[in-house]
Amino acid sequence: MTQEGDLPMSDKTDALMVISHATFDYDPQDETTRALDDVSLTIREGDFVCMLGPSGCGKSTLLSVMAGLREPTRGSITFRGQDAEGIDYRRAVIFQQPVLYPWMSTYDNIAFGPRVRGVDHDETRRRVEKYVDLVGLAEFADRPPYELSGGMRQRAALARELVNDPNMILLDEPFGALDALTRVNMQGLLRDIWMRDNRTVFLITHDVDEALMLGTRVFVMSSRPGRIIREETCDFTQSVEAGDKDVMYSEGYLRLRRGILEAVSSE
Ligand SMILES: Nc1ncnc2c1ncn2[C@@H]1O[C@H](COP(=O)(O)OP(=O)(O)OP(=O)(O)O)[C@@H](O)[C@H]1O
Ligand SMILES: [Mg+2]
Repeated sequence: MTQEGDLPMSDKTDALMVISHATFDYDPQDETTRALDDVSLTIREGDFVCMLGPSGCGKSTLLSVMAGLREPTRGSITFRGQDAEGIDYRRAVIFQQPVLYPWMSTYDNIAFGPRVRGVDHDETRRRVEKYVDLVGLAEFADRPPYELSGGMRQRAALARELVNDPNMILLDEPFGALDALTRVNMQGLLRDIWMRDNRTVFLITHDVDEALMLGTRVFVMSSRPGRIIREETCDFTQSVEAGDKDVMYSEGYLRLRRGILEAVSSE
């Protein structure tokens, strides 16, 4: 299979992140600890990439490499044309359990990033108010995170990252702990956020429907050590945005869904 990292440079002009032949061993001296095996993937500006794969296959490991939390043992990863070393607020990370400081109000949690980076007071306030509104938390801005529901905390965590105006948002099963209705609402919010500012999103999920209803590119990883074994391109998310609520019952959707489920369960 030709891997994306092998594309000629002319096809990488709008590449935001290029992962090229990345292998990751938790112990570099011990190949049996391999979690990623020769993963190549080019993510372009405006992509909504969804990653599916069996539990323990290496999805979170891949995200941590993409976020700059870990370095690949072999291979390379670039972000905006430069080595993606170390954490960077332009590559925002959202985990399944929202990370918020319990001793700060929701407002102060969201303002934290711009304040630390020295963004001036008025600009910080403008941005925080914008994103507090966008995620529907204006009435709760002065409350501490422990007075918010799980879905509200996850929305606060999203606002806390968006306020830094990231180029790329990396999410690791962010809605896994939420009830079904809240989950659908959060998916809609994420779609809005992606479309509104033409952001680039990388979402790990174990839910095939979530991947198909949100992603423009859906990938499947093999069981550990993770390799990319399938890629699909789809536009159901645009159909949903255009008001087609029945897209998930269409023949094209069901065919793709079946193929992806077969690929995941064959691993
Ligand atoms: N800190 C670590 N040290 C050693 N091995 C690890 C470490 N973290 C993860 N692993 C191993 O690496 C493999 C991939 O783990 P990873 O967390 O990336 O999987 P995943 O695809 O995210 O799984 P899940 O869907 O259950 O979240 C697993 O076999 C796991 O046991
Ligand atoms: Mg994981």
